[in-house]
Amino acid sequence: MCGIIGATGSDEVLDLLLEGLARLEYRGYDSAGVALQHDGTLWRARAATGTRSLEDLRKVVPDDPLTVTAGIGHTRWATHGHPTEANAHPLLDCSGTVAVVHNGIIENWRGHTLASETDTEVIAHLVEEELAGGSSLAEAVRATLRVMRGAFALAVLCANEPGTIVAGRRVSPLVIGAGEQGQGLLASDIPALLGRTRRFWVLDDDQIVELRPGSMRVTTLAGKEVEPNELHVDWDIEAAEKGGFPDFMGKEIHEQPRAVADTLLGRLLPDGTLALDELRITDDELRRIDKVFVVACGTSYHAGMVAKYAIEHWTRLPVDVDIASEFRYRDPVLDNRTLVVGVSQSGETIDTLRAMREARQGEAKVMVISNVVDSSMARDADGVMYTRAGPEVGVAATKTHLAQVTALELLALYLAQLRGTLAPADVGLLVGRLAELPELIERILQRERDAAVSGEPSPVATVAARLADTRDFFFLGRHVGFPVALEGALKLKEISYLRAEGYPAGELKHGPIALIVPGTVVVGVATRTELWDKMMSNIAEVRARGATVVLVANDGDTETAEQADEVLWVPETHPLFAPILDVVPLQLLAYHIARLRGHDVDRPRNLAKTVTVE
Ligand code: G6P
Repeated sequence: MCGIIGATGSDEVLDLLLEGLARLEYRGYDSAGVALQHDGTLWRARAATGTRSLEDLRKVVPDDPLTVTAGIGHTRWATHGHPTEANAHPLLDCSGTVAVVHNGIIENWRGHTLASETDTEVIAHLVEEELAGGSSLAEAVRATLRVMRGAFALAVLCANEPGTIVAGRRVSPLVIGAGEQGQGLLASDIPALLGRTRRFWVLDDDQIVELRPGSMRVTTLAGKEVEPNELHVDWDIEAAEKGGFPDFMGKEIHEQPRAVADTLLGRLLPDGTLALDELRITDDELRRIDKVFVVACGTSYHAGMVAKYAIEHWTRLPVDVDIASEFRYRDPVLDNRTLVVGVSQSGETIDTLRAMREARQGEAKVMVISNVVDSSMARDADGVMYTRAGPEVGVAATKTHLAQVTALELLALYLAQLRGTLAPADVGLLVGRLAELPELIERILQRERDAAVSGEPSPVATVAARLADTRDFFFLGRHVGFPVALEGALKLKEISYLRAEGYPAGELKHGPIALIVPGTVVVGVATRTELWDKMMSNIAEVRARGATVVLVANDGDTETAEQADEVLWVPETHPLFAPILDVVPLQLLAYHIARLRGHDVDRPRNLAKTVTVE
């Protein structure tokens, strides 16, 4: 995720860009940059100093930036290429007359010689080629976007067209704004422009806008002029940063379809196979692996538990999942045929980092699944696979967790494809099911938003309201439903401060059932898998002892619903992908209970987002 901004028709282009970038930092802060159009040339400044990037960018831009006719800016959360100055946007074409800022992922960037490691640079070169053939900037951008695959919001500036910015989008967001004095503005998000205007329009997919002082022209990629949709915005800046949600956690839960879609992007090929070409461990090395360890902490550990079921089932490789802080002290058996997979949103958690180092000393091949490009773990490991959830502000992980499970499912299928333990046709079918997931997550979240629009409490909020005074919760699941139960319990503990135990449902009768009394709330993951009958027998055991039963059930499954006091509905998918859907209502349940109890869900007590002490 990145933030983009553009401005024309103003004496204060640079101020507008820097102010907007500051408001877009929540979308990424690995690096920041601007390109300004001045006297028939482009002037560019960039800084890649992490959280200090914007501050450092301010130091390299001139105090009095001459006459600037238009400018574009960018704040980056790296997904493709290291977070260095060379990879910071704006990126230029060969001649330095075209500058591009981009948010999203271009899938078909291969086959071009690029100066940076970014997928974005290819856009600048394609626009350059079109311009050389005599096209106007708008025609060149349209032609380029017609051949681009992937997700993008981008803005392009050309030295030879003073005052003009051309921007376009597909999937990634882009808003246009108009200032009262004819300023033409654009940004990834409303908050970047809120101090400057309240008149906004949204571009639809595959539309471009030409912004000039006092004018705005929107066309389709075929060049047909269209009327853009005007937005009515009455948010203040803080609400806008949170996308209209009361907090970041709520916003991030609703960003999960995008986080999963972006994590899949470019990795599922049209022929039904998978490509993980940034992995840095060779296919031969992966074929030689004879055992896998997954090491992680907290929510990432639960993602790792899901991976165990998937990797073992599809590849027949034995998998151990370890809490990272325990791994290095238990003398694990490692050699050069062992693959150790660290899972970490931040890539900085010291327990996981140390466990991975220990594994490297034991000659294992080590890789990390991380949401932060060039994090300590990414630099340390032999291989890396990035989740692309964008920065997560809420301390309790949500969208990064779904992205982690998605990445681990991809890894499991990739290993199976490589080792031939799944037939290509089966990989193709499973890849198809994976690709459906963003849409299915959206279905769960859309029901919540629909209720909000009609002023009703949402389906999960209604259940939460009935449970908000309960002190003791049990979360039960079987098979991959077990890590989902653990994650549901962890979310509730973290932000609601209520006692919540996650248990494998079959283990209940060996002890914890003694704690079930009338009024205890039992949340069961009861979506349809081969173990559904057994799960329902365990639910009958707690019902018989007076528990209040809440079940996560597949849409329309009345047989399951009949056994529940409350139901949390989710669509059906392949059983091994079900954790990606089933955990969503449990995140929402914890979220609503915490809010009803008056807690700050973004900053829970005693917890830190990144823990760098042992
Ligand atoms: C902290 C956070 C948890 C997170 C865990 C692992 O404890 O509060 O939400 O799951 O660290 O973090 P990581 O960045 O390694 O995924």
